[in-house]
Amino acid sequence: MIQVNAHLPAGTLTTLGDVGLQQINPTELFAKGTHILFAIPGAFTPTCSEQHLPSFIQHADKLRQLGVETIACVAVNDAFVMRAWQQAQDPNHVVMFLSDGDASYHETLGLTKATGSFGGLRAERYAMVIQDGVVTHLFVEDEKTYGVSSAEHVLEALQG
Ligand code: BEZ
Repeated sequence: MIQVNAHLPAGTLTTLGDVGLQQINPTELFAKGTHILFAIPGAFTPTCSEQHLPSFIQHADKLRQLGVETIACVAVNDAFVMRAWQQAQDPNHVVMFLSDGDASYHETLGLTKATGSFGGLRAERYAMVIQDGVVTHLFVEDEKTYGVSSAEHVLEALQG
């Protein structure tokens, strides 16, 4: 599993915006400045829709006041699903939605979990802070918990 103080590895994520499908290399996206990447096991699933994503939308202004430039959400779902979830939950585009459709980036990070017949290989639920391309904080949930990867917890960590 990727560790604090490691450089975020290169890879390919996808986003669907007004210009269509776009490939994004996280190393380039997060190369300079302070950013948050959080991952959820599945768009439209209960904890993700009712708690995890809303926590980052709710606390985005406070996070930005602490210097966070990008708040990105990633899942092992295709970019069309991520876009539909964005339209349903974040019409003001507070959060950037990224797809790791084949889970390859989460395999590189060592942050996959097998969900069997639910949805195959998915991302663990986690949040990380990246400063100038280096992971400074990493909060990975234990199986089926929700807490340390919440925006509230990330906010506390950044406030010191
Ligand atoms: C959730 O509540 O977010 C969830 C439930 C089942 C599988 C994955 C996520």
